[in-house]
Amino acid sequence: MRKFISVFVMYLMVIAAVSCSLTVGAQHLSVEHRVDSVLSLMTLDEKIGQMNQYSGFWEATGPITEEGDKLEQVRNGMLGSMLNVTGSGHTRQIQEMALQSRLRIPLLFGQDIIHGYRTIFPIPLAEAASWDLQAIEQSARIAATEASAAGVHWTFAPMVDISRDPRWGRVMEGAGEDPYLGSLIAAARVRGFQGKGLGNTDALMACGKHFAAYGAAIGGRDYNSVDMSLQQLNDVYLKPYKAAVDAGVATMMNSFNDINGIPATANQYILRDLLKGSWGFTGFVVSDWGSVGEMINHGYVTNEADAARAALTGGCDMDMESRCYIKNMKQLVLSGIISESLIDESVKLILRKKFEMGLFDDPFRFCSEEREKQQWDNPQNRAAARNIARKSIVLLKNENKLLPLSREVRTIAMIGPLVKAVGDNNGFWSYAWPDDSARIVTQWQGISNRAGKNVKMLYARGCGITEPDTSGFREAVVAAMNADVVIMSVGESANMSGEAKSRSNIHLPGVQEELVKAVCATGKPVVLLINAGRPLVFNNISGNSGAILYTWWLGTEAGNAIADVVFGDYNPSGKLPMTFPRTEGQIPVYYSYLNTGRPPKNENDLNYVSAYTDLPNSPEYPFGYGLSYSTFSISEPVPDKTVFSPGEEVHVRVIVTNTGETEGTETVQLYFRDKVGSLVRPVKQLAGFQQVLLKKAESRTLTFTLTDKDFSFFNDKLEFRSEPGEFELFAGNCSAIEKGVSIWLK
Ligand code: NOJ
Repeated sequence: MRKFISVFVMYLMVIAAVSCSLTVGAQHLSVEHRVDSVLSLMTLDEKIGQMNQYSGFWEATGPITEEGDKLEQVRNGMLGSMLNVTGSGHTRQIQEMALQSRLRIPLLFGQDIIHGYRTIFPIPLAEAASWDLQAIEQSARIAATEASAAGVHWTFAPMVDISRDPRWGRVMEGAGEDPYLGSLIAAARVRGFQGKGLGNTDALMACGKHFAAYGAAIGGRDYNSVDMSLQQLNDVYLKPYKAAVDAGVATMMNSFNDINGIPATANQYILRDLLKGSWGFTGFVVSDWGSVGEMINHGYVTNEADAARAALTGGCDMDMESRCYIKNMKQLVLSGIISESLIDESVKLILRKKFEMGLFDDPFRFCSEEREKQQWDNPQNRAAARNIARKSIVLLKNENKLLPLSREVRTIAMIGPLVKAVGDNNGFWSYAWPDDSARIVTQWQGISNRAGKNVKMLYARGCGITEPDTSGFREAVVAAMNADVVIMSVGESANMSGEAKSRSNIHLPGVQEELVKAVCATGKPVVLLINAGRPLVFNNISGNSGAILYTWWLGTEAGNAIADVVFGDYNPSGKLPMTFPRTEGQIPVYYSYLNTGRPPKNENDLNYVSAYTDLPNSPEYPFGYGLSYSTFSISEPVPDKTVFSPGEEVHVRVIVTNTGETEGTETVQLYFRDKVGSLVRPVKQLAGFQQVLLKKAESRTLTFTLTDKDFSFFNDKLEFRSEPGEFELFAGNCSAIEKGVSIWLK
């Protein structure tokens, strides 16, 4: 009887909690207590339902054919979450259905809010080129504010996969090649998305993805295998995920790849031993789209039931769109293959997030039409997007100070297939709203507006992005001949990078290289704008142009941001977050490589050394590279001690001086090399950077603080340790710095 009473009391508390009639009793209980209360009322079917996620439909009230059972399952409590349902109206409709289920457990609505929702920010790789953590955090904050106002609870971002292979289309979605920079950016994005914490209606749950090492797909081919030592995995690839966890990321997503033969979705080592074990992650793990079922294709499991078993045992709590859990988990429990306590563990993690988001208290708290309207076209958000967009642009070349454009220019010819492109400016993973053509500032509009009435603007498309047709070249050449200066906009289309967009040839597609050569042959000064979601290979045309701006995909404010830089309203400050290869044959090429026993003495040394006979080892542009309209000198690093002990701080001073003619921002980068280790160590590793805005002739002394922790690494026993010995420090404005200064760790 006593037991009955306590269960009954619990039931009342839960109903109070889930029915949103906020009894004080339910509210003051701890989340843990409330989670347990709900769990104790759930049937096995309802529990498995919480672990199930489907993609939704934009028109829930429209004709639904083969998808029809989804809504029935929502009403029956057979679904924990839906993705791809946004808008306060749509999410409200579906949430109402969820509340018709027996226990009235609200759904979580997830969406890929990767670089903005309504206001599109630069693609994440471009933002990483800003090296501006505050701006990156702000971009995620605004994305969360806009999306949460449209009923979304959860973004599948940040993508924190280290990527060192530009053939992989998804490099556009991450922060590039470096674990140090990548970790700081991962944490900034988590902070941005989650704002002041889950439970605030402008906070999205973030999702660190793709766990793990998705960016190391062999050959840069999407979804491909990953084969790497556990030492390399821990020392390089896992760091940004760990940083996301340390920043409090609410959820994590599995990756599609296997790691050394074990699919990430069922990988107990990364999911249970590390993530949920030593890292102390308390959120839940969602599979990637269908990745549970795809383990059958991998040849890792025999059928869907086996896939469900392997994934749950591995540590995957929620099944995105494979239906393996919903179809098989009950039988696995009834036949004793999976214990119900394992299911309880996952369900608790999912329920906890729903409580933390406040959804049990008010399942509709994110569905406010009023907030949605307020955020729909917010000028402040656009201003922030323009700000980070111009910071993301990287000036790669500026011969004879062609940029910023002189005030004497009277005629500008804009040439190329991307000059008047609209949607492409948004890049992959962005929403196409019906009014986009009016909202997105094209490059033509941005430049023409800023040039003003006194400058004559000429336009020629020249060619398409991929088409072989050269019939437009003539018109392009004539336009160039009639102009004082030419601005060419070339590159990929937005959907040439992104998911499933690997390319073996990363030159400018189509006949664009020929177009650039033809236009440059006129002898007119040419500024190249290169648009892409990845580092491209363009060295065979770069010599012909006077200036090159790498513009990636900059989002809603692309045209204005580019104009800001072209006319000198903003002095470019972007730095490459990935090494740019000379040609595809160099890939993978990254600054932080291990030295061989036969390093070449110089670029011409071919005497039985580790080199290509037809190409130098050095890249086209190194990691960290980017010019300014000003110039800066950076002193050698000066440590305050040359010998230090574990735990002791070393303060390293670097003096940076603006030696140019204009105010500008420089990113001072500090690298180190561990000269001798129990394992071969990289020739350089980033250990810190600082951005400073300096007036003409101004100097600033920067101080970097290091301890032995900064020099630690995962040794062959996978212990994160420092080792005594000599470390060389390098300071400069990119990773290609020759001269270092030594310090010794006791
Ligand atoms: C598959 C992608 O790999 C993942 O990044 C994304 O979040 C899901 N699809 C959901 O759209």
